[in-house]
Amino acid sequence: MERIQLDITKAAQFLSEGAVKAYEPQVKAAQEALENGSCPGNDFLGWLHLPSSITPQFLDEVQAVANTLRQKCEVIVVAGIGGSYLGARAVIEALGNSFAWLVGDKTNPTIVFAGNNIGEDYLFELSEYLKDKRFGVINISKSGTTTETALAFRLLKKQCEEQRGKADAKDVIVAITDAKRGAARAAADKEGYKTFVIPDNVGGRFSVLTPVGLLPIACAGFDIKALVNGAADMEKATAPSVPFAENIAAQYAAVRNALYTEKGKKIEIMVNYQPKLHFIAEWWKQLYGESEGKEHKGIFPASCDFTTDLHSMGQWIQEGERSIFETVISVEQPAKKLLFPSDDENLDGLNFLAGKRVDEVNKMAELGTLLAHVDGGVPNIRIIVPELNEYYIGQLIYFFEIGCGISGNVLGVNPFNQPGVEAYKKNMFALLDKPGYEAESKAIKERLK
Ligand code: PA5
Repeated sequence: MERIQLDITKAAQFLSEGAVKAYEPQVKAAQEALENGSCPGNDFLGWLHLPSSITPQFLDEVQAVANTLRQKCEVIVVAGIGGSYLGARAVIEALGNSFAWLVGDKTNPTIVFAGNNIGEDYLFELSEYLKDKRFGVINISKSGTTTETALAFRLLKKQCEEQRGKADAKDVIVAITDAKRGAARAAADKEGYKTFVIPDNVGGRFSVLTPVGLLPIACAGFDIKALVNGAADMEKATAPSVPFAENIAAQYAAVRNALYTEKGKKIEIMVNYQPKLHFIAEWWKQLYGESEGKEHKGIFPASCDFTTDLHSMGQWIQEGERSIFETVISVEQPAKKLLFPSDDENLDGLNFLAGKRVDEVNKMAELGTLLAHVDGGVPNIRIIVPELNEYYIGQLIYFFEIGCGISGNVLGVNPFNQPGVEAYKKNMFALLDKPGYEAESKAIKERLK
């Protein structure tokens, strides 16, 4: 099997000679600190050797639960937010039919997502959609106390029990949560739901290769063994023993830090040319944003879907402030084949493309954009993925995870905590008069007078 590749030449040309190589000692130190557990946040390193430590028996257990849900449900609602949501959605959308949610899929249940917002219309419309469906729920929350997820789960549990009866509902509700703590654990124990545990030492945004991602992905009909194999192969390919020049995660961490510190490139735009990859970028944004954005430091992770966004953000990227660089996920082979048709009238003047694969046009758009953006002063990193299947997506996941662990350590932050996300929660609870927040409620209301 091939590996995904990294091409940093069109980024390194913007840096001084040897700037990437100069990061080798820092990158090596970061990787050793991850390996021997001496880095900040070392109680959250369970993801580091996760791919190689997942047993076939464990994957069989996850698959068996997925099979039960697949057999009993036409729709499966995955309730979760942030790291308890984005990885599953990213993989399912990258591998699935773009129109599965619309046209249905005869062989697989439809997977929909909830608990990732507090939109009343969203939740109302979801419950309308589910009214005549045999649906099940995967409730995912490590803390078991996240408001968005708990709110959606309350509604979904009630509706599921009303539609199927309490006994049948119990068989199609699965909780993925902490081993002991939190409301999701308490509800699961009380109701007798099947549960999976999110390991203590794996943070949400690094949890896609735990049941958090694996169960929904298996429910959607994708091969979780191949996904984990891909990740395990990337774990080997990016091990600390691999020389710096051959270690693509080390190179990625080095070049992005060099662009940030030497050239003041404060924004990284993750670009794809396949709409299916939209949520891979959403997952990546959380991974890097929540890991690095602290102590008033960190590259801002943004994303664009090309060529779509070339017609909206293209102008800014070509000629706006030169504070950006792009990382392009380039998929070599599309899964399907479609030729550009010939037309007798040729009113659009596009007969010169007749007989070519649509992807050939896409690839020329990609190359043309790369050259234009580099000419415009935008460093470009390319990640080359042979094709979109479970194995290569597994590689991509681990590549980004280890790249993030290294990069955050090089930046000098703790990549595994997220203290900043508590601020909005505290204010929201104070404004909602949550018991226990009386002093904060009083203070915030004074402030708003
Ligand atoms: O990466 C993280 O830790 C967060 O994004 C969490 O995954 C997110 O806040 C959801 O938390 P929980 O799984 O506890 O509901």
